[in-house]
Amino acid sequence: SGPAPMSPTGQETGATQADVAQGGPYLTTAQGARLYDSDHSLKAGARGPVLIQDHHLREKITHFDHERIPERVVHARGAAAHGVFRGYGTAANVTKAAFLANGVETPVFVRFSTVLGSRGSSDTVRDTRGFATKFYTQEGVFDLVGNNIPVFFIQDAIKFPDIIHAGKPHPDREIPQAQSAHDTFWDFVTLHTEATHHTLWNMSDRGIPRSYRTMEGFGVHTFRLVDAEGGTTLVKWHWKPKLGVHSLVWEEAQLINGMDPDFHRRDLADAIDAGAFPQWELGIQTFPDTPDQTFEGIDLLDPTKIVPEELAPVQPIGLMTLNANPSNYFAETEQVAFHVGHLVPGIDVTDDPLLAGRLFSYLDTQITRLGGPNFGQLPINRTHAPVNDMLRDGMHQTAVHRGVAPYRPNSLDGGCPFQAGVDTGAYVETPVGVPEASKIRDAPTSFADHFSQPRLFWLSMTPVEREHIIAAYTFELGKCYEQSVKERGLRALANIDTELCAEVAAGLGLPAPEATEPLASPEPSPALSQVGQVWPPD
Ligand code: HEM
Repeated sequence: SGPAPMSPTGQETGATQADVAQGGPYLTTAQGARLYDSDHSLKAGARGPVLIQDHHLREKITHFDHERIPERVVHARGAAAHGVFRGYGTAANVTKAAFLANGVETPVFVRFSTVLGSRGSSDTVRDTRGFATKFYTQEGVFDLVGNNIPVFFIQDAIKFPDIIHAGKPHPDREIPQAQSAHDTFWDFVTLHTEATHHTLWNMSDRGIPRSYRTMEGFGVHTFRLVDAEGGTTLVKWHWKPKLGVHSLVWEEAQLINGMDPDFHRRDLADAIDAGAFPQWELGIQTFPDTPDQTFEGIDLLDPTKIVPEELAPVQPIGLMTLNANPSNYFAETEQVAFHVGHLVPGIDVTDDPLLAGRLFSYLDTQITRLGGPNFGQLPINRTHAPVNDMLRDGMHQTAVHRGVAPYRPNSLDGGCPFQAGVDTGAYVETPVGVPEASKIRDAPTSFADHFSQPRLFWLSMTPVEREHIIAAYTFELGKCYEQSVKERGLRALANIDTELCAEVAAGLGLPAPEATEPLASPEPSPALSQVGQVWPPD
């Protein structure tokens, strides 16, 4: 098919390298020399020793030996699809992001994943699900790298290696492969009680989705939107599935694990093949960008907290339709590289300390996972906007850059009149003030409340949902070998709700401890009663 066409800046354009033929009348080596046989190695006589001069044998086996790349350090197992996003224009008053304007259509690629299992693990395990969307906008790539649970286990990225080490299989026996039911997981989430809220969502039906098509997605952190005049608004991102939110029950999840470990990826691919294209509405909750960055007393920089939808309704701003399956799992689903720092004008980050760590982590890990710094040139990662960067060379460089002076300004190459601070279409970080402060390794006091929102969630559940949660805690804690871990698990539950704690304790055959923290709001206020369940009708 020949080399991919070059853009004026010397970068390859389009996905032509992806179209390498697998047909044709003859086979070739990687160099294009035709082969007359690919089944027999070159030998000294039909029964003689194999000859080292057999380049085809060595090329074929050497390439095979290097086919695998490291799986993702988290979210290793995933399934993905292509689609299109259409803006409603309803966000125009809060952001200048061009892809959100009315009627603008933007290609997207979405990867859903489980967090803890390895690439070959099962789909219907109890776990958080990743929901990562790459928008190929005309202003550059925007990645919305979210989960199906609106809060996270920890408030500071420095603990991320710790929670993942605790959640991954035990280092001695590499058990369990993908479930949360084990000692180190429960040890961590009961010692770090900020994890209580996320854990409770995991133990609820949200931890075992029926399908990727019936999951909500959440950006988790608060982001900052910027309008055309420079005005700012804080927001939380939400994906709402048109099919509604549905879960499995635990017995179904366990049976399916055995019968069809690929249940979720099959469901997604089959639905798209059948023309039943899944759709999600993108929505935002908006909050005034006040200096304290709180809303109704909720710290917007604390990723363990939601803002109930009754206090800040989710406003629909666009529709995503997934309408095509990947044609090559490795080239697309495996090689796609998302990053929370891939932003476009009109969308900015906040000082959430978890988000800060993520802004560092994704690029760093992808350099290892995808073999060097040039993975942005892989077809699935290529922006649809023109590229004129001054990044050069490096492992797996495929662009043939022209010119001699990859720096600006220069007096040799000409052609690029780039001047700093002039381009009004450029991405400019919002000039947010930084409070005067001394360096400190600590958390704000507003991060210390670990139980009021878990209690809010529990009180918003229906009786059958509560039964499922009790059964889930009893099953999962019951798998722990360490008695002290189970007891600490019960102490966390006592701080959520007396009945929840008593029921799980009875199931484990242990005494129910007393709460050590005051149980906030014995009855939920009507305004706070239905976490994540309100959505404007069509
Ligand atoms: C991967 C979400 C927190 C590090 C992912 C993926 C998702 C995700 C969806 C899969 C991306 C894909 O499909 O390729 C989240 C969310 C978080 C969170 C919603 C919290 C709100 C963190 C933190 C760190 C981190 C705090 C590190 C400090 C990683 C890494 C990967 C990853 C290293 C693998 C990326 C790759 O190899 O391509 N995360 N994550 N995440 N996440 Fe996070």
